[in-house]
Amino acid sequence: MRLTTRLLSSLVQKRPFYVTTPIFYVNAAPHLGHLYTAVVADAIQRFEKLTNPDCKVIFSTGTDEHGTKIQQAAAKANQSPPEYCSTISKEYRDLFKEFHVDYTDFVRTTEERHLKAVKHFWKELRDQDYIYKAKYSGWYSVNDEAFVPETHTREEVTNDGKVRVSIESGHRVEWTEESNYMFRLSAFKTHLKNWLKTDGVVKPVKFHKQLQEMVEDDVYLPDISVSRPASRVHWAIRVPDDEEQSIYVWLDALVNYLTVSGYPDDELVKSRGRPWPADVQVVGKDIMKFHGIYWPAFLMAARRHPPRRLLVHSHWTVNGNKMSKSVGNVVHPRGVPAAHALRYLLLREATVADDANYSETKLINTANAELADTLGNLVSRSIGSALNPRGEFPALRPALLTKCCQLQPTVLLLHQVQVLPEICHKHYTNYQFYKVVDAVIRALHMANLFFETLKPWELKKKPECQKELDVVLHVTLETIRICSIILQPIVPDISKKVLDKLQIPECSRNWTDCEVPSWNMEDAIHETKKIQGGKFVLFPRIYVDKSQKRTSAKTA
Ligand code: ME8
Ligand code: MG
Repeated sequence: MRLTTRLLSSLVQKRPFYVTTPIFYVNAAPHLGHLYTAVVADAIQRFEKLTNPDCKVIFSTGTDEHGTKIQQAAAKANQSPPEYCSTISKEYRDLFKEFHVDYTDFVRTTEERHLKAVKHFWKELRDQDYIYKAKYSGWYSVNDEAFVPETHTREEVTNDGKVRVSIESGHRVEWTEESNYMFRLSAFKTHLKNWLKTDGVVKPVKFHKQLQEMVEDDVYLPDISVSRPASRVHWAIRVPDDEEQSIYVWLDALVNYLTVSGYPDDELVKSRGRPWPADVQVVGKDIMKFHGIYWPAFLMAARRHPPRRLLVHSHWTVNGNKMSKSVGNVVHPRGVPAAHALRYLLLREATVADDANYSETKLINTANAELADTLGNLVSRSIGSALNPRGEFPALRPALLTKCCQLQPTVLLLHQVQVLPEICHKHYTNYQFYKVVDAVIRALHMANLFFETLKPWELKKKPECQKELDVVLHVTLETIRICSIILQPIVPDISKKVLDKLQIPECSRNWTDCEVPSWNMEDAIHETKKIQGGKFVLFPRIYVDKSQKRTSAKTA
């Protein structure tokens, strides 16, 4: 019996947790919006590993390299498409590395393994009779790489005279008449409606509702064109058995999620633990239709499962306008004044349901107030030689702790730290990263207040108060340890710096290691531990101009 249970659990464990980001167009360098999606997905996979260390995680991202848009961008850059794509694709990989986006698979649509997957997928759709040939005419937006129904366009007067644009994206559309292959999207209305009945299949609820409304509206479910004449779109994958036609870039791009799973090679899929269907697919709201309508319909047509969950997030704006390559108001993550705080700001500031506005002032103020002051200063003070000359994480003496508990700030802090993991677990599960940070910062504020109230610098001066001093240091450091474990998915680098300094072993940084604060551990013997030596500044304050630094140094 026990053997069967073990066997079963090992089988269950084998299924990996699969999370994806969109694959990004290489028509321009990556910006803050792309980084945001990547860090959201990264925080999700890190939280999964933190709470489920035995689970294998597959985390895919990559670049979308075919189609007219890329063809034009390469021409403009005076480069051949392959050369151009490689350069920009590398910029994405470099960016993700710099911001600790720990993907397991980076897929490019120009790779051989992907070409094979797309062609195979096409044949599956064709063999199920979901693809047919037709004369097609309509408005096409190169920027969105999509045909747009006439009712979703409007005329605009610009310096070039009258032009027609897509109402949804604002991008220009042009009239196109050609012979294409069509996909029977209209056949999937009922299936899509049923899929969307699954509770929690799209998060947050706001976007779930929007998708449900879209599938009720036939204008979103016409049969769609899934090829373009190769004479117009040559930088693309050809339709199997028809060299005259190129596969529509969105069909090509969406298949990337299967490519990563090992598709169409059954042995490879098996060796990867059968990752499809993906557990969470993270996308921006601009591409919700493609992921919430086209993609599940394509999958159902190929007799495959749609994803288990779609996480749709809103946009970063600058002065209220969506940050976008085509608008030209993009923020380049590497160029911001406090790049090492950017990941913190992205997850701290945005809610997935609503747009968030970016400003440098906000980045600097948040970094200074929360990372440098609330967290950084507290760490420095509690490990610094002035109050902690032995450089120790002192053992806890429960009897003395009870004595300190007469004061309200201690009671509040001990309670907050005790409930913190449960609160944060819930917020992580709901993708509410800003609430995780809020709760952690609240605990750290309480720790700062506790510190100020118990005045360890005065205890330090009195030989008879050394044990009380140890209690204050212990409680503060324990709070810092727990907060750092919780923050790992959000700011892995900053958490690591603190946990390394406290010499917390790598194997003791899992979620279970933060669930019970030392003051609630029964019978636990808490030894005094050494803290790593050397100078320590967790997060230097950022000064916008040097004169400010001089003034503040003088007044400090
Ligand atoms: O659409 N705020 O690629 P893309 C937040 N290749 N996120 C933003 C953003 C902003 N201002 N701007 C972009 C494509 N993003 C296709 C996808 S997938 C099979 C093919 C993020 O380079 C967000 O995730 O235009 C958005 O959905 C994605 O970048 C679009 O990237
Ligand atoms: Mg786009």
